[in-house]
Parts: sequence; structure tokens; C-alpha cells
Amino acid sequence: MTSVKKTIKTLFQMKQTGQPISMLTAYDYTFARILDAAAIDIILVGDSLSNVFQGNETTLPVTLEEMIYHGKAVTQAFVVINLPFGTYQVNDSEALKNAIQLLKNTNAQAVKLEGGQEISNTITKIVQSGIPVMGHLGLTPQSIHQLGSYELQATSPEAKEQLKADAVALERAGCFAIVLEKIPADLATEIASSLSIPVIGIGAGNGCDGQVLVINDLLGLDESFKPKFVRNYLNLNTSILEAVQLYIKDVKTKKFPNSNESY
Ligand code: KIV
Repeated sequence: MTSVKKTIKTLFQMKQTGQPISMLTAYDYTFARILDAAAIDIILVGDSLSNVFQGNETTLPVTLEEMIYHGKAVTQAFVVINLPFGTYQVNDSEALKNAIQLLKNTNAQAVKLEGGQEISNTITKIVQSGIPVMGHLGLTPQSIHQLGSYELQATSPEAKEQLKADAVALERAGCFAIVLEKIPADLATEIASSLSIPVIGIGAGNGCDGQVLVINDLLGLDESFKPKFVRNYLNLNTSILEAVQLYIKDVKTKKFPNSNESY
């Protein structure tokens, strides 16, 4: 049941009418097709592909060209794509040039970038060129070396105030939505109810206007990664392992292929 493709306008209306927004990552055509068939509202071509697709420890190594490669393969739904680390921090013109490259060369309708007040001018510049921008606050994985760890963010009163100010700055700068990652639920609820744009949470409790997860986490593809905010809807790691083991056994015992599987 593929649904009508969302736009920034219909996403805004979903917030106004209290309809929760569903968002998941996808990095290729096959997964995007399934997510779209399930009527997902937003597909994110996240730079988390650096971790789950390329096997890197952080999101820092992934390049603009690699994001474009994956973005081309995600052809359904309302697609948001991450500007990877280093492609928007140098100056506004470079950021705009790279955002345009993503929109020109992929199927995305919007870009996502990380940071608060310090990148609000960059966001405005991109938005003014006609490209919708999704912000990302709280745990911002591209700043992992500054944060020091992937722990809960915005726990002190000062950090909470800073995050609230950053969220307001992103809305004023023109973001059509914001991701809040790994922050206390009550803070996320307060921000979501104070902004007019949709706030999508990951590890930010149930008071946001929508939720996002990395598809690999939802499917249980990595048993070693199990933060509290992830719900495994499947244990695909085990299912794939068992299926592959059965296949190997059948090949070794000459049970595959059988006569029905032969010409
Ligand atoms: O890259 C990504 O997958 C993300 C989500 C975790 C929000 O930014």
C-alpha cells in the first residue's frame, strides 16, 4: 500500500493535526522499495551508512560521492539525505554547492545536517536556494570526537537551555523539521511542543512528532549494537545466519539444487 509521497507541506500538516511521522533509513533500492510499500513517511539516506554499510567506527569517513551513490538507489517516498562531515562546515558557499550536488544527483527532496546556532546562516543559505533542510541536534555523530562518547546529551541545565536555543535557531533559519537524538524525553517533548515544525526523535522519548531508527537496528542485523532506544522488530542477524548455514549444508551434502530447481 504505497502511500502518496509526502512533501514538507504535508509533513507540517501532520504535525499540526497530531499525526505521528514515521522515518527510517535506507541505503539501497531494495530496502527503499519495501519501506515505501509499507507506507513510511520519510526515508533517510543517513550517513550512518558509514557504520552499517561500510563498517567504519564513525560517520566521519563517508564522502559526498558515496552519499550520492546510495542516494541514487533510493527512489521512493520523501527522501532526505545527509550532507556528510566536511561538506558544509567550511563555508556557506561550499555547503550550498554540495547540497545542490546531492539534490541534482540523487532522488532526495531534502538534505539533513548536524548542528545548532553556529550553522544557522548556512541553513538559511541552502533553504533560500529552494532546498528543504532538516536539522539534527542532541547527539550529533559527526562531532563524536568533540563529544567524546555516544552518551545521553543535554543533561545539565546549561546544556538543556543551549539545546532549546539551538532548536529555535534552526526553526528560524528555515529548517522544515529537526531530528533530536539521545536526549532526555521531557526536554524533547518541551522542544516539540514549542516549535511549529516537526521534531523527529531517536532516543528522545515519545513526546516528539515522529520517530526515526536506523533500519539495520529495527531489523536486528547487529547483535552487538543494542542501545536502550532501539527496538528490534526482528532478529534478522540470526535468521540470515541460520539460512546461510542451511544453504552451506545443502550445498555440501548435494541437497541443493534438487530436480525442481534444475533445468
Ligand atoms: O545518519 C543517520 O542515520 C541519522 C539518524 C540516526 C537520524 O542521522
